[in-house]
Amino acid sequence: MRTYKITSLLTITSFALFSHSYGQKMASLKDSYKNDFLIGTALNATQIEEKDPVAKVFIPKQFSAATPENIMKAEIIHPGWDKYNFDLADKLVAYGKKYNIKINGHTLVWHSQLPAFMHGMQNADSVKQYFTNHINTVAARYNGKVFSWDVVNEALNEDGTLRKSIFSDKLGPDFVTEAFRLAQAASPDAELYYNDYNNEQPAKRAGCIALIKKIQAAGVRIDGVGIQGHWRASNIPLKDIEESIVEYSKLGIKVMFTELDLGVLPNPWDGDAADVNMKATYSAKMNPYANGLPDSVQAKLTKGYEDLFKLFLKYKTNVSRVTFWGVNDGQSWLNGWPIKGRTNYPLLFDRNYQPKPAFDAVIALKK
Ligand code: G3I
Repeated sequence: MRTYKITSLLTITSFALFSHSYGQKMASLKDSYKNDFLIGTALNATQIEEKDPVAKVFIPKQFSAATPENIMKAEIIHPGWDKYNFDLADKLVAYGKKYNIKINGHTLVWHSQLPAFMHGMQNADSVKQYFTNHINTVAARYNGKVFSWDVVNEALNEDGTLRKSIFSDKLGPDFVTEAFRLAQAASPDAELYYNDYNNEQPAKRAGCIALIKKIQAAGVRIDGVGIQGHWRASNIPLKDIEESIVEYSKLGIKVMFTELDLGVLPNPWDGDAADVNMKATYSAKMNPYANGLPDSVQAKLTKGYEDLFKLFLKYKTNVSRVTFWGVNDGQSWLNGWPIKGRTNYPLLFDRNYQPKPAFDAVIALKK
């Protein structure tokens, strides 16, 4: 009886996956955009280990690229000074090979999610040793196995200056160039990227361009820049995004949108940000769509994605990948940030893997 119920549930879910609003087979993002750019998603451990039977079928149909949402971050992959935990990253590489999905390693150098042994480390030589060991070990292990690396993540402030971090404090302002130099030596076959949020904004973009020029002037390889794309559906900076694609392309590098999601919930602060350390407290007022998304907001989200993908297509020779930060709304980090316990709707698929009107709009651009 129990087996029968589970089987029926799986059958119904699989049917729902392949039947769309009009009983048609669901279109595929990666197939629709195959001549334009890669379509990626962030993956969590459950998805990498193929523990979710729906995701197992769904992800390879929709996506041609993947970035690990957390499992390659230093606190997980390098938990002790001499201790590495490659289990999930190895599984991710195998997953990419099995389904022909290009893996973007995320991330070698980031001030956040550092291992506990790094907390409060004062000695500059120790920080340098960690930095060198970490990049050499992790980048070398996955050389020829990942397609690319976010070598350095979020090193800039909003005004374009270098962020104060353990790396800038202890290694000095050249640490970004040095990270790329080490990554190039350890992982010569991988593309190497700088990744940040709000780096489409003019001041931060100027700092980002200066940083990239500095790497290039040192004779070190950088292949691309990632604009994360954590925007709000009601406030997408299309003009800044277009100018950024043009300006970054002038540096002779690829441009990618690496963590795309469009939040629809009220923001407790002015402006957009993605600093994971910023938090605010819950109130029902700040969680207005707990029981469903009104049509007017759904329409705004749809229009936002349509505008963005029109722009990406206009610059398809410059844009090499567009990665969503999560597969479906239920998995998005935006349900927990900057306020825990909210119901957000930032992606193209709903909590049951059903395509939303925004998905139809993105697909329609290719019909
Ligand atoms: O795995 C632990 C678990 O063992 C523990 O019990 C639990 C308790 O809170 O935490 C779990 O770790 C969480 C982890 O996600 C895995 O789920 C962390 O608390 C949580 O802070 C972490 O959040 C991630 C965040 O980066 C933190 O750095 C988000 O999932 C992830 O989406 C987000 O991704 C970042 C990009 O890497 C860089 N750009 C911004 C983007 C959004 O913040």
